[in-house]
Amino acid sequence: MCGIVAYVGHREACPLVIKGLKRLEYRGYDSAGVALMNGQGLKIYKKKGKVVALEQELDGKEIHATIGMGHTRWATHGEPNDVNAHPHYSFHRKLAIIHNGIIENYAAIKQALLKKGHTFTSETDTEVLGQFIEDIWENNGGSLEEAVRLALQEGVGAYAIVIMSEADPTQLIAARKGSPLVIGVGDNEFFLASDATPIVEYTKDVIYLNDYEIAVIKNGELKVVTLDNTTTTPYVHKVELELEAIEKGGFDHFMLKEIFEQPRSIADSMRGRVQADAGTLQLGGLRDYLDKLAKSKRIVIVGCGTSWHAGLVAEYIFEELARIPVEVEYASEFRYRNPIIKEGDIVIAISQSGETADTLAAIELAKSKGATIFGVCNVVGSSIARATDAGAYTHAGPEIGVASTKAFTAQVTVLTLMALAAAKRKGTISDSLFRQLLAEMESIPAKVEKVLQAADKIKEIAYIFTYARNFIYLGRGLNFPVALEGALKLKEISYIHAEGYPAAEMKHGPIALIDEDMPVVVIATKDSSYEKVVSNIQEVKARKGRVIAITTEGDTHLPGMVDFTIEIPKVHEVLMPLVSVVPLQLLAYDIAVMRGRNVDQPRNLAKSVTVE
Ligand code: M6R
Repeated sequence: MCGIVAYVGHREACPLVIKGLKRLEYRGYDSAGVALMNGQGLKIYKKKGKVVALEQELDGKEIHATIGMGHTRWATHGEPNDVNAHPHYSFHRKLAIIHNGIIENYAAIKQALLKKGHTFTSETDTEVLGQFIEDIWENNGGSLEEAVRLALQEGVGAYAIVIMSEADPTQLIAARKGSPLVIGVGDNEFFLASDATPIVEYTKDVIYLNDYEIAVIKNGELKVVTLDNTTTTPYVHKVELELEAIEKGGFDHFMLKEIFEQPRSIADSMRGRVQADAGTLQLGGLRDYLDKLAKSKRIVIVGCGTSWHAGLVAEYIFEELARIPVEVEYASEFRYRNPIIKEGDIVIAISQSGETADTLAAIELAKSKGATIFGVCNVVGSSIARATDAGAYTHAGPEIGVASTKAFTAQVTVLTLMALAAAKRKGTISDSLFRQLLAEMESIPAKVEKVLQAADKIKEIAYIFTYARNFIYLGRGLNFPVALEGALKLKEISYIHAEGYPAAEMKHGPIALIDEDMPVVVIATKDSSYEKVVSNIQEVKARKGRVIAITTEGDTHLPGMVDFTIEIPKVHEVLMPLVSVVPLQLLAYDIAVMRGRNVDQPRNLAKSVTVE
């Protein structure tokens, strides 16, 4: 949601900023803009639509500049149009501002400025903040840095902002609270961005700005101060991200690349952690907290979307292996009730981006009630990863497609390892089952590879259902969250209405929807629910529903009963979701492509949802 890129140094700023904005396109946005400073002063160019529309707008303009900043906006205050797009000038055009987040008390600030005679061109909270900063700067007689600090002390809400002023062509001021901001430190040059992806091709040295910090880059030097004006010494991290990881690498879409990366990403999630031969398992980030996890009376898992589905899978696994009661909550619901958290409770927060506002708020609430917080995040150094007491990164590599795929399988992998480690420590798993599951886990990448070999067959099935208007997905046990995930994938990228249900629950309502026009995807693998699921399939067939069944290799019974089958290798029941979800990802992808959808950036969606 919203992307920020800024640069000051010796390079041409405009092409660098535009390229950076393209790298952030995956976050989701509806308009884009840049501010540049050169002999013609501080100039802003912005356009509704994609970054290419902005590029066309810039065509023929004097864009030479060595300082500039750009923004992709995901509308919150005011519709997506040229005027509401960022950057925004301040009232006297002395500065320009870009902003990610929401200033909650902007209306009150706006009223005060209106009384002083200010007028506004946009409907945004960002323009209000820019005018507020300029007003303080003009009236207090201090520096711009001081004006930013004073303004942010008044501002309520979340933000990552960058400011350029006409007064100083060497200066960028940035600040953060609740929205991510990374500073790239080069040789006499600085980069600012919402994440490291626009920066890594220039430098691997980055600083993650903390909440309530302001970065002042001036005359080639960086200073970081807190909102109460204490100077801090920023820690320079080395990012491991390689350029090829954020490019399509010959695939038509990032989503397809990420689906096909899963054999590797699942292996990466286990790398250095699982030694099946020796029967050992280590999770470094959990070492000091494993006892606490194993002894916990209850685990509460919070997350949103796909991460919530991974939590549902984890619920089955933790209860089955470690015999710890688990509750899985939507972070957005958890944060607005008065949840009961008791001593000894563990909260596990799951998030690919590590920036989801609802999940972050749920963590803060759980912390305030005394819970110990574990994180399962993909993005290293993200806000959620830093807000937790302990945790394990998923190491899936950057996920650019808005529809989460490899992040899900990586989350399930890590959560399974956590459950296994807790079960071992607690003594609720036999040594032989522990070893068997570790060995089975090591075999998962090869099994996923095998499913990927069925891609052409899945494409043929997708072709038949391209114009379906609805879909139902059914599964039982560990395959129920997989059904939910399959339905989510389909609806978010193809815009087809799809529902996931526990297979047995169908007869309590959704069965009324079944007729010859209703495709029903059933995950019918050979596990403890197999016979029951077969009965559910018969119920669908009796009503002429068209069944696509995900079956276990060698199943000779179902092909004669259903319309289409997609075979997957035999896997231990506890690990089934890691494999059974893959054909559903491909099916959703193929249908969306055949319908001509923008698979990587579906309408209205953002990759990291940093507003509630
Ligand atoms: O970054 P997070 O895992 O916290 O994101 C949570 C959801 O926004 C995310 O999973 C969303 O549902 C995806 N678009 C699913 O494909």
